[in-house]
Amino acid sequence: MRAYEIQAGFGLDKLVQVERPDPTPGPMQVRVRVKATSLNSRDLMMVEGRYNPRQKLPLIPNSDAAGVVDAVGPGVTRVKPGDRVMSLFSQAWSAGEPTRAAQVSTLGGPLDGALADTVLLHEDGAVPTPAYLSDEEAATLPCAAVTAWSALVTHGALKAGDTVLLQGTGGVSIFALQIARLLGARIIITSSSDAKLARARTLGAHEGINYGTTPDWDKAARALTGGVGVDHVVEVGGAGTFEKSLRAVRPGGTVSVIGVLSGGAGTVPLTPILMQNLRVQGIFVGHRQSFDALNRAFALHTVRPVVDRVFEFSEARAAFEHLKRGAHFGKVVVRVG
Ligand SMILES: NC(=O)c1ccc[n+]([C@@H]2O[C@H](COP(=O)([O-])OP(=O)(O)OC[C@H]3O[C@@H](n4cnc5c(N)ncnc54)[C@H](OP(=O)(O)O)[C@@H]3O)[C@@H](O)[C@H]2O)c1
Repeated sequence: MRAYEIQAGFGLDKLVQVERPDPTPGPMQVRVRVKATSLNSRDLMMVEGRYNPRQKLPLIPNSDAAGVVDAVGPGVTRVKPGDRVMSLFSQAWSAGEPTRAAQVSTLGGPLDGALADTVLLHEDGAVPTPAYLSDEEAATLPCAAVTAWSALVTHGALKAGDTVLLQGTGGVSIFALQIARLLGARIIITSSSDAKLARARTLGAHEGINYGTTPDWDKAARALTGGVGVDHVVEVGGAGTFEKSLRAVRPGGTVSVIGVLSGGAGTVPLTPILMQNLRVQGIFVGHRQSFDALNRAFALHTVRPVVDRVFEFSEARAAFEHLKRGAHFGKVVVRVG
């Protein structure tokens, strides 16, 4: 099989293409011929050694795969050769609260991931691909879309008429926009780019705020709700945005803590959380049940993931560099098969 490995230390320049023997699926495992993989901010952090500097190497990065089942191990009943499937981020998390076992069953670290033409999955971690999606589109769902669904639906119970505040126009936020549209919520989105805000409006965002030219975007978001505050913030900015997110949300509202784009450590202002009765909900992607529910909703409404650009397998490093520049809108994909 062909794969990319983080091999001798971290850094994009250390990402090398290798040949490995084809793996044989063990009990309950399925072998998938990968057709496409998408890049997540986490994958870039993993390659650069910022996600887990103690990660054992070599490692095949990337959590997100879409492909075709090619062989199955003993005991497999959920899928068969020829089935189109996507990877589940945490291979051992089917439903309920995450367990320690689920937290360490994640693809692209510590388990070998999907920047390869072949990946082994647990049968419970091979999710049927909705027929209307191409492999490039399907490869965008496992991490970013499931995360947005977990935040807004599984934990957030967002409903028609609620107001949601989204940060930036990357993978998680654009899926959150599409899900909030399905649910009939009002969408306020921020971006560093007016052109991206205009594009977000064409997807159904109701209001856009440029966080570059409006550094007090929290106040601007509040003002748009008549001073009350939004019902839900999808917090992907991290240390640089968290405090403002607490100020943008209404009393009793929810902040879904998801991302660390501007850093993962900072002081947590406790007073607004308790005085405003806020719910600060950590999100760790999501379980199989959420992924299945997302697929049903997307298929029913034929929601098309927003693919910014598709790179060829030989251009994997360039794909990561593109993600790192932050010029993308939605998801960056690498075609594999
Ligand atoms: N907890 C989880 O389960 C989970 C799952 C998925 C992702 N994440 C995390 O969530 C974050 C987003 O992931 P992603 O895959 O959507 O990333 P992404 O596609 O790389 O998103 C990048 C975009 O975010 C926006 N952005 C960057 N810094 C910002 C800031 N300080 N304030 C507001 N927006 C900012 C920019 O949008 P504009 O160009 O429009 O300004 C940028 O283009 C990452 O930190 C990732 O690690 C966590």
